[in-house]
Amino acid sequence: MCGIVGYIGPRQAQDVLLDGLSKLEYRGYDSAGIAVYDHGDIQVAKAVGRLVGLADELTQHPLQGSQGIGHTRWATHGRPSEDNAHPHSGCASDFVVVHNGIIENYMQLREDLEARGHHFSSETDTEVVAHLLEEYWTGELVSTVTNVLKEIRGAYALAIMAKQDPGKLVAVRKHSPLVIGLGNGENFCASDIPALLQYTRTVYILAEGEMAVITKDAVECLDLEGNPIQKQPFEVTWDAVAAEKGGYEHYMLKEIHEQPKAVRDTLSGRISEDGRHVLLPELHMTPDELRNIDRIHIVACGTSYHAGLVGKVAIERLARVPVDVEIASEYRYRDPIVSDRTLIMVISQSGETADTLAALRNAMARGNQVLAITNVLGSSVAREADDVIVTWAGPEISVASTKAYTTQLIALYLFAGYLAQARSTANDDVVAELVRELSSLPDKLENVLEAAPLIQSIAESFSTWDDAFFLGRGLDYSVALEGALKYKEISYIHAEAYPAGELKHGTLALIVDGVPVVALLTQDELFDKMVSNVKEVKARDAYVLGITWVGNEEITKSVDRVLYVPRTIAFLAPLMLVIPLQLLAYYASVARGNDVDKPRNLAKSVTVE
Ligand code: G6P
Repeated sequence: MCGIVGYIGPRQAQDVLLDGLSKLEYRGYDSAGIAVYDHGDIQVAKAVGRLVGLADELTQHPLQGSQGIGHTRWATHGRPSEDNAHPHSGCASDFVVVHNGIIENYMQLREDLEARGHHFSSETDTEVVAHLLEEYWTGELVSTVTNVLKEIRGAYALAIMAKQDPGKLVAVRKHSPLVIGLGNGENFCASDIPALLQYTRTVYILAEGEMAVITKDAVECLDLEGNPIQKQPFEVTWDAVAAEKGGYEHYMLKEIHEQPKAVRDTLSGRISEDGRHVLLPELHMTPDELRNIDRIHIVACGTSYHAGLVGKVAIERLARVPVDVEIASEYRYRDPIVSDRTLIMVISQSGETADTLAALRNAMARGNQVLAITNVLGSSVAREADDVIVTWAGPEISVASTKAYTTQLIALYLFAGYLAQARSTANDDVVAELVRELSSLPDKLENVLEAAPLIQSIAESFSTWDDAFFLGRGLDYSVALEGALKYKEISYIHAEAYPAGELKHGTLALIVDGVPVVALLTQDELFDKMVSNVKEVKARDAYVLGITWVGNEEITKSVDRVLYVPRTIAFLAPLMLVIPLQLLAYYASVARGNDVDKPRNLAKSVTVE
């Protein structure tokens, strides 16, 4: 997983590339580099670490030229080092390549190339591409690239420049995202749209197996054999500022605060005028097909997987269809029992997570119907699934997912209601109540956000501990899992979520005097049981923060601190609970002085296995 950019036009390429890379750092940030063409020569600059290191280097030693490619890396093959940083060249610096993905047969290719006298200077899989370009050089870049592509297997987005064929960039996409930005007398390519927004909103989203030949005045799209193809440009409607921090200290905090709007946008157009029914006009599935479903497999990774756990409860309760929720990296390698009546739902914020995409492709190959929930309209998942429910969260930049999760939940609740309508499994009033409560959520979420200062003070005291425990039952447990994930990934504090009833089978042994415990108490029918579990940890002197419905005075007798959230139906509680948990993680991370938006070892979009 890495980010790539390319530019050709009248501006200094260095500035455009650095700017674009800064918007892609979420894809990887252990080293970065650019290559710029100028007057018959290609100059390369690289630096290990964050992009700022490369920017400093370029301030001291600027690269002149108005055509170039750049890369921000997240190491897969070869440790983070200057040699392994992209762009890569072959034996000479006649070709430069930036790459996102994995060349699966690179070992064999490398051995063959070395036997033919090529000398390698990095440990990467990418470098074979530059050497192959040297081997296959036809005197012209596009035909050379098509010949090279026949040799390589795997997943890649590539941007390539050749010294002997100036004024041209070649960008190729196979299983890794790539967009082409269309400007006026200048053109661009990048792994993701935010890198282009400052310059253009008109883009081509390259599909699998497409290539773009980019000059400053034109972009020609070809298939991987070099045959021309026609593509329609896509107008991006996001505001450029939506991809910036908008006054908040971190993207994560900004994105947490954007949740009421993201929820409102995701509901928009999906509720009937009388406010009683769910509308999902984008779905192609017929009512007969919806009635025919006899099982659903929800497949996802990370936070999206946690959203799936909530979705299971919503769908089973309303639509009475059994749902299994599976981690994509596990699911793709087992032999799931499915029938032609099994619906596969994939959930992916980015729409590019390699394991989720592989699970989707396996399902399509088996002939199953696939419904995707994704935040990125032009993503692989969105384009390949039979049906798509888009979450309108807008670009999510912080590695820790927040608004994507809440909008995924909205999409899942809407789908559960929609399915229930088609199958007549829920009384009209039940769906109407769901719809009414969903509509009231944005205001309630605003209200939850007002607790930020209180949560900050709690997080600061929790952050001095090296452990934290998140307990819940039923749906509260599903949210506890997300709370613990958020907490550990950005604060680097060990955090465990536990179904509270299971405590006494092991985790209770870890409860010591003062250790922070977050107890979620919104599931009314399980409330008394949860209180008993809280008492078990209090008896071991844990420090308990209870999060429950406003008005629940009784809980103050059992916990040390209480955080109240506005009431909604218990079924929608995850939406109310997750914001305090996101804020708790955020402020604990800030208190520890961590890089909140770019936690160590993690990346936003995991496009490799
Ligand atoms: C990474 C991100 C998580 C995300 C997960 C799945 O681990 O850091 O925030 O939940 O990937 O990503 P997806 O884009 O498929 O939802």
